[in-house]
Amino acid sequence: MMDLGLSRCLVLAVCVCAVVRGDDDGRIETAGAPVHLSDSDPGLLKALKFAEDRYNQLSNGMHIRRVSKIISATRQLVKGVRYSITVETGRTQCKKSAELHVPEECEFFQESHKQKTEVCLFEVWNIPWENKSTLLKQKCQPAVPKETKKVVSVPLSRDKPTQETVDLLMQFKDFMVKYNRTYTSQEEAEKRLRIFQQNLKTAQTLQALDQGTVEYGVTKFSDLTENEFRMIYLNPMLNQWSLQKQMKPAAPASKAAPDSWDWREHGAVNNVKNQGLCGSCWAFSVTGNIEGQWFKKTGQLLSLSEQELVDCDKLDQACGGGLPSNAYEAIENLGGLETEIDYSYTGHKQGCEFSSGKVVAYINSSVELPKDENDIAAWLAENGPVSAALNAFAMQFYRKGVSHPLKILCNPWMIDHAVLLVGYGDRNGVPFWAIKNSWGEDYGEHGYYYLYRGSNLCGINKMCSSAVVD
Ligand SMILES: *[C@@H]1O[C@H](CO)[C@@H](O)[C@H](O)[C@H]1NC(C)=O
Ligand SMILES: *[C@@H]1O[C@H](CO)[C@@H](O)[C@H](O)[C@H]1NC(C)=O
Ligand SMILES: *[C@@H]1O[C@H](CO)[C@@H](O)[C@H](O)[C@H]1NC(C)=O
Repeated sequence: MMDLGLSRCLVLAVCVCAVVRGDDDGRIETAGAPVHLSDSDPGLLKALKFAEDRYNQLSNGMHIRRVSKIISATRQLVKGVRYSITVETGRTQCKKSAELHVPEECEFFQESHKQKTEVCLFEVWNIPWENKSTLLKQKCQPAVPKETKKVVSVPLSRDKPTQETVDLLMQFKDFMVKYNRTYTSQEEAEKRLRIFQQNLKTAQTLQALDQGTVEYGVTKFSDLTENEFRMIYLNPMLNQWSLQKQMKPAAPASKAAPDSWDWREHGAVNNVKNQGLCGSCWAFSVTGNIEGQWFKKTGQLLSLSEQELVDCDKLDQACGGGLPSNAYEAIENLGGLETEIDYSYTGHKQGCEFSSGKVVAYINSSVELPKDENDIAAWLAENGPVSAALNAFAMQFYRKGVSHPLKILCNPWMIDHAVLLVGYGDRNGVPFWAIKNSWGEDYGEHGYYYLYRGSNLCGINKMCSSAVVD
């Protein structure tokens, strides 16, 4: 079965020795070897139910999925009980949006293509004396015959390891566990380790040069080169100023900006979403803004569809990038946005499945905000979260705090990422923008990035805009 021998590190510090000795096969199992379980094992069924519920909570899918078949299951005693369970899951006819279902009563689709079978590996860790379960790992992939992935353990140098390489390997293992990384070959793993090491150095340099209160270090992007990171997550279109559409200027705010403001405290901001391996930040920036505008108009916070924009906004480039100014226009032309649940996110471009009958929020036009950060703050406090864009230079390795990279390192004209300004204030005297990102809640501070405010840093003031709902 697929196993990196990695998740063990999560619970056993002894694992260090295993790394040093290159012994990934058993020596750390002293707590108990894995035992194969029968399909009717009560502990297994409970763990599976837990994994299934958690899986449904975490997924963006519209339908409830259920386990259709147990392929294999083991139990291992490691500071509690760890279940490794490989199953097939299928889509049921129950929609998550509808009233609460008892999952057991949800029927699978009859046709297998609609059932969209996946093979999932779940690892559930039960700590009985704490009455607690944790989903340590969840790896799902479509159950189509695919070349089998060879999964390897962390690469080991044949040389005698120094303390430094041991620390590096430890950090790399922790990273792989935390962010669910597997590599398809030993070469790939070694390459990623080298990139990881390089990135640690980059993060240290950033840290040394930063003027804020920030912490840079290991993030979920730590095994990507800067170039890969840009290619996958950033948005080259934002830098093509000639493509920008002229929008009418926003009416200035009627009052000066209060000292601080945070729309999260006023119910205008949804949870952080995740754009996945797709350069669709522009769509998330725009839906976040419209969610706020709609909230201001109706008092209701909806979660709106980015996938509609990825699929149906022909002015933009789907996962290849886009511009908020285009997206507003596309939404006006389409007639509005569907909800996240009705048109849910897949992270790749598909045929447009927009249905005007499902529109829940419309916009009438869009406006461009002033370029002065005080004016932007005043407008935000009065009107709602603002779509903004910036140079994401300091974001790949950002962990927490207020980021304040040197100005010369964060060219304000090299804008490559779209985000949502939801508030501002200062922390211990350091003024910041609170920036809602779309790289999941496991990025930065619960999905947020905090950037120094007051010197137009990284071009944050250059491309602020908003939809208008009349
Ligand atoms: C464990 O937690 C469940 C649900 O949270 C609760 O119903 C049950 O009584 C708890 N058992 C113990 C031994 O604390
Ligand atoms: C873990 O990674 C695999 C691919 O390596 C992916 O298919 C799966 O969805 C991931 N699981 C989680 C919980 O992110
Ligand atoms: C705004 O747009 C909606 C939907 O297209 C439309 O019904 C409404 O009349 C528009 N409002 C104004 C003031 O034009």
